[in-house]
Amino acid sequence: MWQAGLILISLLVLIEAKNDKLKEIFKWNQIDFAFPDEQTRNASIASGEFKKENNMPLGIEIWKDRVFITVPRWKSGVPSTLNYVKVTDGESPLLHPYPNWETNNVTEEKNYTIGNTFRVRADECGRLWVIDSGLINIVESPKVLSPPKIMIFNLTTDELIREYHLKPSDIKDDSFFANIVVDVSPDKCDEAFAYLPDLGSYCLVVYSYKENESYRINHHYFHFDPLYGDYNISGVNFQWTDGLFGISLSPLNENGFRTMYFHPLSSINEFTVSTEIIQNKTVASESYHEFKLLGSRGPYSQATTSFIDEKSGVMFYTQVNKNGVGCWNSKKFPNDYSINTNTLVVSDDETMVFPNDLKVDRDSNLWVLTDRLPEFIYRNLNKDQINFRVLKAPVSEVIKGTVCDN
Ligand SMILES: *[C@@H]1O[C@H](CO)[C@@H](O)[C@H](O)[C@H]1NC(C)=O
Ligand SMILES: *[C@@H]1O[C@H](CO)[C@@H](O)[C@H](O)[C@H]1NC(C)=O
Ligand SMILES: *[C@@H]1O[C@H](CO)[C@@H](O)[C@H](O)[C@H]1NC(C)=O
Ligand SMILES: *[C@@H]1O[C@H](CO)[C@@H](O)[C@H](O)[C@H]1NC(C)=O
Ligand SMILES: *[C@@H]1O[C@H](CO)[C@@H](O)[C@H](O)[C@H]1NC(C)=O
Ligand SMILES: *[C@@H]1O[C@H](CO)[C@@H](O)[C@H](O)[C@H]1NC(C)=O
Ligand SMILES: *[C@@H]1O[C@H](CO)[C@@H](O)[C@H](O)[C@H]1NC(C)=O
Repeated sequence: MWQAGLILISLLVLIEAKNDKLKEIFKWNQIDFAFPDEQTRNASIASGEFKKENNMPLGIEIWKDRVFITVPRWKSGVPSTLNYVKVTDGESPLLHPYPNWETNNVTEEKNYTIGNTFRVRADECGRLWVIDSGLINIVESPKVLSPPKIMIFNLTTDELIREYHLKPSDIKDDSFFANIVVDVSPDKCDEAFAYLPDLGSYCLVVYSYKENESYRINHHYFHFDPLYGDYNISGVNFQWTDGLFGISLSPLNENGFRTMYFHPLSSINEFTVSTEIIQNKTVASESYHEFKLLGSRGPYSQATTSFIDEKSGVMFYTQVNKNGVGCWNSKKFPNDYSINTNTLVVSDDETMVFPNDLKVDRDSNLWVLTDRLPEFIYRNLNKDQINFRVLKAPVSEVIKGTVCDN
């Protein structure tokens, strides 16, 4: 009896992963917005512009005291897709549209609108880069508002600096853009590049800020792995075919370029290529062997986004099938990416169901947004429980005592 009890307890410990590293900064049962006034909010609810239950946060970015939070337009009733809160706004803050309500309002068709954004990136030059998929109400009745476009804002003035529509040759029927990674050095702001993984048609679109020009790169490694498209998350079983998704960049190498690490979502492998190849339109699609397999993280290790902390060299990535975050130290194990050198640094079956986005801020803190996405898409969220969380901890504390520690 006693022995059986012990076995049961150790099984429970294995099954009930508990986060004791990341601190909850924000948590919400449901998302609400800072409407100009109560009358507008009431009118917005009455017209169907705002349906609380259809709002789920997804992307996160940190800029000084602002935390950007995207709310994708999967379903109707999302009044604003790009938003921010202040770190000091309390534990369940109202979301403020960025840069304002008008730019996020899709009730009336107009130019200069953000239709649907999943993830954004604030760069070293004080600019916020937004990828707008241009497609709204994806799961109900999809509607194209505009071609996918990049919008770049001045974070000091909140003014739109540039808007760039992807070219027809960048886009295929199944294209879907849900992530944006910016490659820039603070002393060369005009020479920035944006990398846009196309998870739906398995390619990478590269945008050069200096040339104000984009192009599309193909590679076999951008495709999903048919053996790893099966997911079991909080009791929901589903299959996804998402290709190229997570991209993280090394610090600058001696040749002035970075190593780009990348993975498809439905895959457990990580790949690399130098940005010297990616940034050169003429060679990019003709350099098959410059793209390398780095290694495998092991079973159930599908990841959405990844991010490298430049100081420690540690790459963090979401672990959607394990309700947690994984890591690998690119400085310590530059040539060994395997089950042994990767680890699940934090996991929690209650507070970390579907880690959807993560970033490391300029003060070396890891931020993670978790949102129960499978339940939101395939079932319904229970509004009496906490569904969405933003969690945070210093990188040094997250990796302490693990294989990722230096
Ligand atoms: C908004 O709606 C609530 C709930 O129906 C109601 O109590 C409130 O008076 C309304 N406010 C305004 C300004 O119309
Ligand atoms: C969005 O635009 C519509 C039409 O102009 C307007 O009625 C509505 O109040 C706007 N929504 C918000 C939240 O400002
Ligand atoms: C959008 O911009 C185009 C070109 O600048 C213009 O022709 C069109 O009328 C605008 N549409 C709206 C709804 O403002
Ligand atoms: C943002 O605006 C400020 C104030 O006008 C200006 O000094 C700064 O250069 C701008 N930054 C960018 C990236 O455009
Ligand atoms: C960039 O190109 C787009 C067209 O693709 C154009 O509308 C825009 O004005 C250009 N911006 C700059 C700064 O050259
Ligand atoms: C998901 O659950 C199903 C049914 O329990 C099982 O057959 C399958 O192997 C599981 N898949 C993964 C990836 O865990
Ligand atoms: C692209 O690569 C080719 C071949 O190595 C080289 O000749 C060319 O200068 C490169 N272009 C740029 C813009 O660096």
